[in-house]
Amino acid sequence: MLPVGLRTARLVLDPPVRADAELVTRYCQDPLFERYLTTPWPYTRADAEAFLGAHVPESWASGNELTWALRRFDGGPLLGVISVREAQHELGFWMGAEHRGKGLMSEAAIAVVEWTLAGGIRGATTVFWRAVEGNIASAKVARAAGFRRIEPDDATVPTRDGTGTLPAWYAVREASVDPRASASWDAILEAAA
Ligand SMILES: CC(C)(COP(=O)(O)OP(=O)(O)OC[C@H]1O[C@@H](n2cnc3c(N)ncnc32)[C@H](O)[C@@H]1OP(=O)(O)O)[C@@H](O)C(=O)NCCC(=O)NCCS
Repeated sequence: MLPVGLRTARLVLDPPVRADAELVTRYCQDPLFERYLTTPWPYTRADAEAFLGAHVPESWASGNELTWALRRFDGGPLLGVISVREAQHELGFWMGAEHRGKGLMSEAAIAVVEWTLAGGIRGATTVFWRAVEGNIASAKVARAAGFRRIEPDDATVPTRDGTGTLPAWYAVREASVDPRASASWDAILEAAA
């Protein structure tokens, strides 16, 4: 697939490029990433170079994973990253620590999910989200993007070394937001408030 750019009220979403390596290297050293993501740990400049120089362009070309940088304007610095994987159309995202809490990831997630379900990815009728249990900020982004929490029997994610699993939260989003979606988060997000 050829890379696709998206725009929201405050953001430009485009494929991250090699010139973003310095920021990606710095952001991905955040200890939260060790806990909540499966990005390499410890994270080095070589990891960023491989991600930007190979993974991102190859995954756009194959359609395996579509990855966007979040920027405030064309050519601006990378603030964070969001992607949709072909397998189950799973949404993933991270934001550089100093850019969090401004609603920017929620804005990007809405744009990516709506693009995906409006035919951006042919045949996609559902977008899927999961996070390690306790990742409140990620759950709030999923809620803001209209996801409905589901409770499958085996609600886990693999540990980063692949040898075990961790309890996880799961949610789905279809083209029209399920009327039960917002309330489906109450049990975990009100308990955490
Ligand atoms: C998850 C993450 C991308 C959210 O980014 P963000 O830019 O702060 O998201 P938003 O500003 O859109 O915030 C969404 C909601 O989360 C809340 N929030 C942000 N950081 C929070 C935190 N540390 N704890 C609790 N709530 C938080 C915001 O207040 C907002 O709440 P609201 O919907 O009630 O207004 C960011 O915290 C991050 O990069 N975390 C580490 C990587 C990660 O866990 N990725 C997801 C893996 S599944």
